[in-house]
Amino acid sequence: MDIQQKTALVTGASRGVGMRVARALADRGCHLILHSRNTAGTDALAAQLKKQGARVHQVAAELADPDALESLIAEVKDVCGGKLDILYNNAAVMTPYLSRFTVPASDYAVSFQVNAIAPAKLCDAFIPGMLERGWGRVVNVTSGIADQPELMAYSCSKAALDRYVRDMVPTLKGTNVLMNLLDPGWLRTDLGGPDAPNDPDSVLPGALVPVLLDQEAGSGKLYRAQDYAQKP
Ligand SMILES: NC(=O)c1ccc[n+]([C@@H]2O[C@H](COP(=O)([O-])OP(=O)(O)OC[C@H]3O[C@@H](n4cnc5c(N)ncnc54)[C@H](OP(=O)(O)O)[C@@H]3O)[C@@H](O)[C@H]2O)c1
Repeated sequence: MDIQQKTALVTGASRGVGMRVARALADRGCHLILHSRNTAGTDALAAQLKKQGARVHQVAAELADPDALESLIAEVKDVCGGKLDILYNNAAVMTPYLSRFTVPASDYAVSFQVNAIAPAKLCDAFIPGMLERGWGRVVNVTSGIADQPELMAYSCSKAALDRYVRDMVPTLKGTNVLMNLLDPGWLRTDLGGPDAPNDPDSVLPGALVPVLLDQEAGSGKLYRAQDYAQKP
């Protein structure tokens, strides 16, 4: 799959999975729109990618803020002239690990806003244009988290995102706009913490698999990055 000259938005590109995905897309010749909460967060990455010859634009938005999300969508449309080819919904927040049955409503609210509503609204904003132009790849980063009621706000928000993808499958069927899920595996990032078994670099090459799919692969599938990782 040749994705040279495609324009890609990677949310949460300042570190962890998003930074690695952005680098990998730039290596394949994509134009990158790098998102984080402050543009300073992607300064180092942007400088590195530009040095490699990539076209890079930095955007900032607190995804817990619906107004900031709307501004982000408008800015990205402006930057890419309304033509976004690859949407990599990676940014997420994990609220604190708490005793079961005590997770406050506010943790659910912020988790749903950042982890489910923001990616859904980005999909709503850019998938129609992809359908009009006949090509698009959308990757929504989910989680394999299970049976941890202490992190219920996070896991329920990811379940909502999974459902968005699943219920959009009939709409995308037969088109060359594919939307799939990626589970990066448990990684030693800021979100995953120091006890995770996997190096953050192990997210590649698997994290690019749902971008590089042929049309026939279709939508609505879960790709696990660790299935593609080289084990020591
Ligand atoms: N690490 C794991 O073990 C693991 C396991 C399963 C799934 N995942 C998923 O993988 C994805 C990436 O996780 P990661 O481990 O790479 O996380 P990370 O290293 O903590 O990076 C999180 C990224 O998301 C951005 N972000 C966080 N909260 C935000 C907010 N409220 N508004 C806007 N941007 C926000 C951060 O931007 P700033 O720099 O501006 O803060 C940062 O770029 C997430 O969807 C996560 O749920 C991770």
